[in-house]
Amino acid sequence: MSFPTFSLQNKTILLTGGAGLYGRGLAAMLAQTGATLILAARNVEKLQVVADEETAKGHTVFAEALDQGDEASVIALHDRIQAKFGPLHGLVNNAVLRPMKGANGAVEQFAESMRVNATGVMLMHRHFGQTMAEAGRGSIVNIGSIQGMIGPSYELYTGTNMGDMPPDYFFHKGGMENLTRFYAALYGPKNVRVNNLAPGGFFNNQPEPFLQRYCEHTMLGRMADETDLGGAVIFLLSDASRYITGVNLPVDGGYTAK
Ligand SMILES: NC(=O)c1ccc[n+]([C@@H]2O[C@H](COP(=O)([O-])OP(=O)(O)OC[C@H]3O[C@@H](n4cnc5c(N)ncnc54)[C@H](O)[C@@H]3O)[C@@H](O)[C@H]2O)c1
Repeated sequence: MSFPTFSLQNKTILLTGGAGLYGRGLAAMLAQTGATLILAARNVEKLQVVADEETAKGHTVFAEALDQGDEASVIALHDRIQAKFGPLHGLVNNAVLRPMKGANGAVEQFAESMRVNATGVMLMHRHFGQTMAEAGRGSIVNIGSIQGMIGPSYELYTGTNMGDMPPDYFFHKGGMENLTRFYAALYGPKNVRVNNLAPGGFFNNQPEPFLQRYCEHTMLGRMADETDLGGAVIFLLSDASRYITGVNLPVDGGYTAK
């Protein structure tokens, strides 16, 4: 019996939103595994910069255009990847759109958020997951949030201008956690696994009063950086996690355990 491997060598992985805060670090860590990595987002020029930086380090990284809020764009990306690489081994749904800026943000912004972050995420599972199911293997890793697990902690934001949080984010990140279970059940018999990660807050030079309170509330005493999420993503994409599906795993330094 061979031991399940943590390697992603010879696997083709699609990462959406590979140039953002968490996404850039994920792109770097996934590229290092030796996988063939495809980055996809709306701004393909920005992604091409990331792909070129990683290619210069000897990794195999491509940039593709995707508007996750548009089914034709999801299908077009699926078909381009299928023609060039065949069925994906792994998909990381990391992209997010944040159109709504506060509790009383416009209804149109809420709808726009759902188009990308709810309908779009479902379409990524539908189109890419179906092809993985037909291939009889695959792993989908959703990047959720601790804000899909718990409500806003308003007390953290006192004395800052960050406290007006939008409801759409809490809605679709919570939805993502249970959509994970839906697709884990649907695709499980076809050997396609679907798991959700719930990252904590990413350090981005937030105001000092917030930083202090957030870190005090977190067991490991700090916010996340660009290297904190990759290990869990690689594990869930790899065969080492081959009996794990339908799980929500907080990667939050213990924030939600307290
Ligand atoms: N930043 C945090 O503190 C934090 C905390 C917990 C969870 N997360 C989660 O981590 C993931 C990455 O977050 P981030 O902060 O790095 O985000 P970000 O805003 O820096 O990047 C988001 C990416 O999504 C892409 N995107 C937006 N709309 C798109 C669309 N319609 N089609 C395709 N791509 C689109 C953007 O181009 C961008 O590359 C998200 O799922 C987010 O919810 C972030």
